[in-house]
Amino acid sequence: MPAARDPGPGHRQRIPLNHWLSHIMKLVIATNNRNKIIEIQDKFEDVPGLELVPLGRYPDPPEIVEDGETFRDNAEKKARGIAAFTGHLSMADDSGLVIDALDGRPGVYSARYAGESATDEDRNRTVLDEMRGVPPAQRAARFVCVIAICGPDGRCVFTEGECGGVIAEEIKGTRGFGYDPIFFLPGRGMTMAELPLEEKNRISHRAKALEKARDLLMRMEHNGDLKA
Ligand code: IMP
Repeated sequence: MPAARDPGPGHRQRIPLNHWLSHIMKLVIATNNRNKIIEIQDKFEDVPGLELVPLGRYPDPPEIVEDGETFRDNAEKKARGIAAFTGHLSMADDSGLVIDALDGRPGVYSARYAGESATDEDRNRTVLDEMRGVPPAQRAARFVCVIAICGPDGRCVFTEGECGGVIAEEIKGTRGFGYDPIFFLPGRGMTMAELPLEEKNRISHRAKALEKARDLLMRMEHNGDLKA
């Protein structure tokens, strides 16, 4: 099938989104992150007839700049761009850490907080410096993940997942990635980076958003047109 061109926001072909699922059964995952691909495969394995296609199978995909103001903007931009490029239903996520005492920062800038060439440790130290002196009751934070699933006709649906915690006083733990070592889970008495990976993958923002996305895909299979 030839790749569909993105008709743009002003143009809407009335093809139900589930057309792309029930006829083609392909969902292109708009990421090259192996861990994310494995997590998605794991969560979606019981969706009947769904073929997950990693973006890496397509040569020269377009580079999509994540310059949106919200997680949803960025997820939509990636999923729409890849759906238009591949001609298939596509899924993308965007995620990050939202800290109340920092007015929501690092937020959509989570991946590049502290500069383009900074490491995870640099980013964690930057956040800890910014949070120095903030009392325990005001250290609330959450990881947020927004998933966009878009058809080649440009229509999209979204799911969201959150995981609440508090910003620790110091870096602790070696598992996970990103801000996990400074994200303390009061219910567990440890940081996300001290939690076994299987447990993180059950409670995380991404796990919750993926479970809702799986439910949406199941409904697309059974119900006709897609309702978010
Ligand atoms: P992306 O959605 O893969 O672009 O992730 C954006 C950034 O948010 C990552 O580079 C991390 O810094 C942060 N982030 C997202 N999810 C997690 C997580 O599960 N643990 C720790 N940091 C995360």
